[in-house]
Amino acid sequence: MRVFNFSAGPATLPEAVLRQVREEWLDWRGIGSSIIEVSHRGRDFMAVRDEAEARLRRLLAIPEEYAVLFLQGGATLQFAAVVMNLLRGRSADYVVTGAWSQKAYREAMRVAPFVGGRVRLAASTEESGFTRLPLPTELNLDPQAAYVHVCTNETIHGVEWLSLEPLYESGVPIVADMSSHLLSRPIEVHRFGLIYAGAQKNIGPAGLTVVIVRRDLLSDPWPGTPAVMQYGLQEANQSMLNTPSTFAIYVAGLVFAWLEELGGVSAIEQVNIRKAHKLYAALDRLPLFENRVDREARSRMNVPFRLRDERLNERFLAESEEAGLKYLKGHKMVGGMRASLYNALPEEAVDALVAFLHDFAGRYGG
Ligand SMILES: Cc1ncc(COP(=O)(O)O)c(C=O)c1O
Repeated sequence: MRVFNFSAGPATLPEAVLRQVREEWLDWRGIGSSIIEVSHRGRDFMAVRDEAEARLRRLLAIPEEYAVLFLQGGATLQFAAVVMNLLRGRSADYVVTGAWSQKAYREAMRVAPFVGGRVRLAASTEESGFTRLPLPTELNLDPQAAYVHVCTNETIHGVEWLSLEPLYESGVPIVADMSSHLLSRPIEVHRFGLIYAGAQKNIGPAGLTVVIVRRDLLSDPWPGTPAVMQYGLQEANQSMLNTPSTFAIYVAGLVFAWLEELGGVSAIEQVNIRKAHKLYAALDRLPLFENRVDREARSRMNVPFRLRDERLNERFLAESEEAGLKYLKGHKMVGGMRASLYNALPEEAVDALVAFLHDFAGRYGG
């Protein structure tokens, strides 16, 4: 029996996709092998890879002047790769709104001296406990910066940039870590210099990192950049400078097909808005629970919440698991609970969680 899986990542995948993988696992479309048993450069896998890219381009309306790369090393490797490819001898701005943009900032600080670059903190909301976004007036952006880095959805703190207008105005290329909300809603790719995302939330299994980068930014990496980290080289080699994560690319392609069939990112956005609204409404209504994030910055994908009486935490986790609602334990940095509501989490899962919250509150006081 499949449970409702609220994991932040690796996360729940569409059941239809898992069934299809099972269906074609031993003999992929009559070739007599699994697709993960054949050469990544062979006709069959190349077709899988090309179709995955074409579907992703359609889903996000990615313009031709952007390269789509299927890399490895997770979003974490991109923290350094961005610096090595884009920073040479210049300065970059970092906006810190939670644990992930802070990690990206710290990695950039570590790597920048090697490439002769500098890193500036353009804004931080740490003093709020990362419960809000910076006001436009708090963004101290350098118009000469090589890029401004932002994490558009903070998976741990549950803070999402629902409007990026203040950043668009900066005029410098925006580099965005969209790991935990890419494909959850439409985005204007042409407003960004580079977008990256680890796959294990809305895209597919872990092991794949998607990078969408404007081609004019590909040409001037720091010469010491390892080959597999050079965007230009990867682009010239169809992301196959070395053996890619064929399984993750294959499954991602199936997830893209599933999403296209559902009507794409605009259609799933409507579902995501509804799901998030239902959960936040329950958390706001029931005094036993609280979500501390500013209303206009609340993530649709990751909803951290706490029980006002922390002594009930263990009981909450045990009873929710018993009710088939799994992986609700919050990240250790913030404690409490977290429900991740990615595309593949069915709306019934949120309905079941909301019903459980009401039931639990009824039994344990408010
Ligand atoms: C927003 C964000 N950035 C970066 C990462 C790191 O990703 P990876 O583990 O793929 O390196 C995560 C992982 O959960 C994340 O949520």
